[in-house]
Amino acid sequence: MKKRKTAGLGILLGMTALLFCGCKEKEIPEKLHVGITYYDQSDTYMNELIGSIKESLKETENDKLEVTVTIRDAAGLQKNQNDQVEELLDEGCNILCVNLVDRADPSEIIDFAREREVPIIFFNREPVAEDLHQWDKLYYVGADAKQSGKLQGELAVDLIKENSQIDKNKDGKIQYVVLEGEMGHQDAIIRTENAVNTLKENGIEVEKLSCKIANWKRAQAQNRMEQIIGEYQNKIELVLSNNDEMALGAVDAYKKLNYTSAALPVFLGIDGTEIGLQAVEDGELWGTVYNDKKGQADAIAKLATALITGEGMEDISFKNERYVYLPYYKVTAENLAEFRQGTFVTK
Ligand code: BGC
Ligand code: CA
Repeated sequence: MKKRKTAGLGILLGMTALLFCGCKEKEIPEKLHVGITYYDQSDTYMNELIGSIKESLKETENDKLEVTVTIRDAAGLQKNQNDQVEELLDEGCNILCVNLVDRADPSEIIDFAREREVPIIFFNREPVAEDLHQWDKLYYVGADAKQSGKLQGELAVDLIKENSQIDKNKDGKIQYVVLEGEMGHQDAIIRTENAVNTLKENGIEVEKLSCKIANWKRAQAQNRMEQIIGEYQNKIELVLSNNDEMALGAVDAYKKLNYTSAALPVFLGIDGTEIGLQAVEDGELWGTVYNDKKGQADAIAKLATALITGEGMEDISFKNERYVYLPYYKVTAENLAEFRQGTFVTK
């Protein structure tokens, strides 16, 4: 009697186990819980990039993969960001996407993630190579700063060669001003250097009047530009700005001082933000260089998925094993629509 009871129990247990395993294979999807923290929510380009990342992550969801995204704003303080990373890990994130406040200071974040074996995809603010090699689960997704500078330079070269009016005082040189992003950011000095070198390499004689840091911000750029105009008045022929926001700040300065359009220099930005593209359409910026937010967002989503599911890693093209760089594109009024509609041809 006792024997039969145990046998019956055994069969019951066996059936339950079978049922359970069967369900598991069919119905329980893998979970991708992404914790994102970015350096400052007042940054126009970053907000657009974060929006694209959210969208791309949601697009990767299917019946085999459940995706949750948690986003934090570090409000410009590395200390905040370190705390946020700890919280995101406590909440169970299994992938971190970090846009560092201080790109030279990722060690604490790396230590937290490493303790829990959670990979980090850094983006937009590139850690130095030494830090990215602290652990083999660290990645970077961004764009090549050098290329953006070169393309901005080429936009200027083409315009100057086609249009003798740019050299307003006809001295054979282009008097230019630079508005630079944050000190220490890979996209600041490198963009400036490459833009200016491209002009020189293409036989354009240039004269630098001024270079001021405006930390990617429109209002700061307006303020710096007002000072520069105060000093150089009508002598300025070209404004090279490390991003669209600061280029628009420069435009604001001229508007405030009631300059007529004939007296304006040429303004060039980088990013192709919504407002930047609008300014190209309106003729306020001559051109910009598209910083492919959707391309970067898709690359982040693809990498995050591959890291969790173990599938698709071989489709990602890495540079130096763990870096992914998306190309930039030149934008002028001529090809603007492609960037608005996202139909530009990727290289
Ligand atoms: C963009 C800037 C932005 C910065 C933030 C750069 O790549 O061009 O507009 O402010 O990233 O890190
Ligand atoms: Ca000149």
